[in-house]
Amino acid sequence: MVTVAWTARIPSAEAMERLGERLAAALQPGDWIALTGPLGAGKTTLVRGLARGLGFRGRVASPTFTLVHVYRGRLPLYHLDLYRLEGEDALRDVVDPGEMEAAGAVVVEWADRAPRWIPADALWLDLAVDPAGDGRRVAARAGGDRARRLAAHLAHRADPAVEPAAGAIPAGPGAAGPGSPGGEAGRPATGKDEGRR
Ligand SMILES: Nc1ncnc2c1ncn2[C@@H]1O[C@H](COP(=O)(O)OP(=O)(O)OP(=O)(O)O)[C@@H](O)[C@H]1O
Ligand SMILES: [Mg+2]
Repeated sequence: MVTVAWTARIPSAEAMERLGERLAAALQPGDWIALTGPLGAGKTTLVRGLARGLGFRGRVASPTFTLVHVYRGRLPLYHLDLYRLEGEDALRDVVDPGEMEAAGAVVVEWADRAPRWIPADALWLDLAVDPAGDGRRVAARAGGDRARRLAAHLAHRADPAVEPAAGAIPAGPGAAGPGSPGGEAGRPATGKDEGRR
């Protein structure tokens, strides 16, 4: 059963990166983190924190022309961005999930574009622009024991800058429906080249 395990308000990009760093401390080979949220929700910022937390010091940016980047720290972190994905079949030809999870952890932006490809035990983190300000909201959903362990780590290692949020973001891949935070109207400037899409 998938449960919303934890929600928080993340007030700044720095706090978002710290959230990733904290989560990295609990990562083990075979862990999957599936990220959802609209353009500019902070997904890559969170991945940057994960990579930093694993000790990787190089550049962290979404893979656009290659489908996957690997950041080699305490364990390898495989970073995928499925924004441009056209059908889950395209993924099957390019990346081998078994190879990635045997060696390291996997984090996937726009994971809701290939929900059946993501292992059932992934930790889903749904990101959204906070309707009450410039910050973001993050809701963790855990589908199995691995994911619950990661969610528990997030919940128990509080960061003073992270405020627990009462209202959960609607759960489920592609669940951002009418009235949900972070829709088109709430889209922030991403500072990114939209042309890459
Ligand atoms: N918690 C936060 N509060 C305020 N700003 C944030 C927060 N997290 C990230 N940002 C800022 O939001 C902008 C977009 O972040 P980011 O590129 O990580 O989003 P994204 O979800 O990966 O977008 P895309 O879908 O285009 O890949 C950046 O300028 C980043 O610094
Ligand atoms: Mg991104």
